[in-house]
Amino acid sequence: MTRYSRVIGTGGYLPDEIRTNEQISQIVDTSDSWIFERTGIKSRRIAGPEETASSMAEIAARQAIEAAGCSPDDIDLIIVATGTPDRVYPSTGCLLQQRLGIKNCVAFDIQAACSGSIFALSIADQYIKSGAARKVLVVGSELCSRIVDWTDRGTCILFGDGAGAVLLTASTEAGILSTHIHSDGEFEDLLYCPNPQVATKSNQEEAGYINMRGNEVFKVAVNTLGRIVDETLEANNMEQSDIDWLVPHQANTRIIAATAKKLKMSMDNVILTLENQGNTSSASVLLALNEGVRDGRIQRGQVVLLEAFGAGFTWGSALIKY
Ligand code: ACO
Repeated sequence: MTRYSRVIGTGGYLPDEIRTNEQISQIVDTSDSWIFERTGIKSRRIAGPEETASSMAEIAARQAIEAAGCSPDDIDLIIVATGTPDRVYPSTGCLLQQRLGIKNCVAFDIQAACSGSIFALSIADQYIKSGAARKVLVVGSELCSRIVDWTDRGTCILFGDGAGAVLLTASTEAGILSTHIHSDGEFEDLLYCPNPQVATKSNQEEAGYINMRGNEVFKVAVNTLGRIVDETLEANNMEQSDIDWLVPHQANTRIIAATAKKLKMSMDNVILTLENQGNTSSASVLLALNEGVRDGRIQRGQVVLLEAFGAGFTWGSALIKY
């Protein structure tokens, strides 16, 4: 009998502070209309000084565990996707394990920038399908506001903070139908965030902020996400019309609209959160999935396409029968 990974609970957390485009236009030379027209973003959430990737992850994770009707002790693997870990080590996964009070499980982090949650789902799916794990908690948690240069109008307008979570279980009922992940390290210079404490001679002057050549990233993202749609449909022998919902990484409405067009899908079937959240990197797909599930748009039995693109470059998709 086929063994699937099935979504049994979702969760999300957004910090209280709302930072609007108007507020950002008082810091850098920009405007609400420029930001909204070019990106679809109106505001984003900013974490408080005491918040960390693991504290936000805990809130999202507890919601997902409760929605699944499980207890933390049922979990045998935790995978946290983050580019803003609390510490270099222990991993944010281990810190989350400690916060959840779980004694017997494996926990680790993965780093795939904005594609992190898709990479984590793919790894979780392999563990479940192989029988190595039964209940896996996948979390994406990001403090993008702490690695953004608030004097760089090309990046500070885009990012926000938050955490999304999903609890997967082994099941004979269909769940994750396939995952597809890719990397191409050749594009390092188009999008990167230095780690000044582990500097080499050539980069020791750089601050630890996101550097992005936005327009070039934009073009590669649109092309690449178009290809991942084809790859996913082909692997599952499906047509565009078989997909009920698109749950995309929330980087830019124009990138998302291009993917929806490729799927011949109305924007009504796309879960969009970026207007009030911005780009929360590896948290964004799981936050959007949580929103679509909790407000009742995504129903059991429907086919949902999750996709993301990020630094690396990394990109990927997960096709789920919810
Ligand atoms: N306000 C006003 N003007 C601005 C701003 C701003 N915030 N930012 C840039 N501009 C100006 C530029 O200086 C430029 O002016 P010029 O023509 O006089 O030189 C002009 O606007 C056009 O700049 P572009 O960079 O070409 O603008 P574009 O339409 O490409 O929009 C954006 C920029 C929103 C960043 C877009 O390129 C984008 O969304 N890129 C993709 C981001 C992404 O998907 N990243 C991957 C995921 S993130 C991760 O993995 C961490």
